[in-house]
Amino acid sequence: MAKFKKDFLWGGATAANQAEGGYKEGGRGLSIADVLPGGKQRFDIINSEDFNWEIDEDKYKYPNHVAIDHYHRFKEDIKLFAEMGFKVYRFSISWSRIFPKGDELTPNEEGLKFYDQMIDECLKYDIEPVITISHYEMPLYLVTEYNGWTNRKLIEFYERFSKVVLTRYHSKVKYWMTFNEINSAEHFPVMSQGLVNSNGAKDKKNVFQSWHNQFVASARVVKMGHEIDESLQIGAMILYATSYGYNSDPVNQMANLESEQEFNFFCGDVQVRGAYPAYTDRYMAKSGIKLSDLETQPSDFEDIKTGTVDYIGFSYYMSMVADVTNAASESAQGNFIGGAKNPFLKSSEWGWQIDPIGLRIALNELYGRYEKPLFIVENGLGAKDEITSDHQINDDYRIDYLREHINAMADAVSDGVDLMGYTPWGCIDIVSASTGEMSKRYGFIYVDLDNDGNGSMDRYKKKSFDWYKNVIKTNGEEI
Ligand code: BG6
Repeated sequence: MAKFKKDFLWGGATAANQAEGGYKEGGRGLSIADVLPGGKQRFDIINSEDFNWEIDEDKYKYPNHVAIDHYHRFKEDIKLFAEMGFKVYRFSISWSRIFPKGDELTPNEEGLKFYDQMIDECLKYDIEPVITISHYEMPLYLVTEYNGWTNRKLIEFYERFSKVVLTRYHSKVKYWMTFNEINSAEHFPVMSQGLVNSNGAKDKKNVFQSWHNQFVASARVVKMGHEIDESLQIGAMILYATSYGYNSDPVNQMANLESEQEFNFFCGDVQVRGAYPAYTDRYMAKSGIKLSDLETQPSDFEDIKTGTVDYIGFSYYMSMVADVTNAASESAQGNFIGGAKNPFLKSSEWGWQIDPIGLRIALNELYGRYEKPLFIVENGLGAKDEITSDHQINDDYRIDYLREHINAMADAVSDGVDLMGYTPWGCIDIVSASTGEMSKRYGFIYVDLDNDGNGSMDRYKKKSFDWYKNVIKTNGEEI
């Protein structure tokens, strides 16, 4: 078995909007996550034509408002992470805690004070914070007033936000990522771009325009970060789903290649290589547009070229199958990025196809393409857990999932891949992004809270807690 580096970054990951709660506290403004209703219908509701970005508490529940109350309980939570031996904790900064509306000139000091404490609490236990600057949220006002990332002004607002946090925390935080799962907008532009059907998601030009603005913003922030402190490592963050052609029919293989380029690689190609890739014209032509149709400035391309990322962070949960010939008998229900059902794989209860070898393939593909360090910043199994009357949670299924994926990582390291670290998703149970459910749990730590917001919020260690503690202690030797 290949050995992970001595300083391998073992840890866990969460995001502000799914963990913190405290949605109106400390001067925080509303974020787009605050108007997303809970439940499996979340995406159908927000994509209905009359969705208007307003909270309707008579009709829906909003689990992100309270989430798991990390805002008040972060000390207790970080203590548990320390007990597992975390080297790093990946979390995000809620933009609307720092700039409540998003377009202000000065930040909200109370919001910053909260992150001062979060960061210091991590450092107290020698846990290095890894920060996602924008994870699936932006101030709601930037959507209702500016139409989200379609508007170039967002570049300036995001730069201002980033400058504040980079300047304040650079001496304490080395690892950063600019946008969570920037490519997810291919399938659901709401989270990262603020676009739903009622404000333009159906017109792909808006998605490409938003991406362009985000590419420029990300590149400028990478450059700014390096000017503030040249030791900072600022990465991209891609949702990666290994993809297979359903069979050896070249038509399916070609479709697979296109889908890989457009979904897995397009954003990374721009952010890592510093230019739009050669297949951009073909990709955009599918939506009837050209790069020259977008609002751009000549300096944008210079920024993109000179603001390339230092590493590639990515999430990996599942693989997908391209089948344009309809050779497969079933589609992958619940595999939220679509495709055919893979007859060789099992799926999670939410239909995500479980594929550890796909992770080894992903690592080889990404490293072969970019030859930059890779960081798996999300991975895990969303599952329903049963808690016994004496608070035991025997989550062997989660241990099995993680063990197989860590084995695949070790295989990829022996393939020559430069892997920096591993932060499994939702290291403490949090609100699901796609469905707003609490019952879709990923954690090593159980949170007593149900889908309707009932529960004590008490934290309990699952069986996987001690298992992961030993994985970290032995640097992945004993899994
Ligand atoms: C990633 C996101 O897509 O997947 C997270 O970055 C999200 O925010 C995670 O929570 C798991 O998805 P879900 O829908 O099961 O919470």
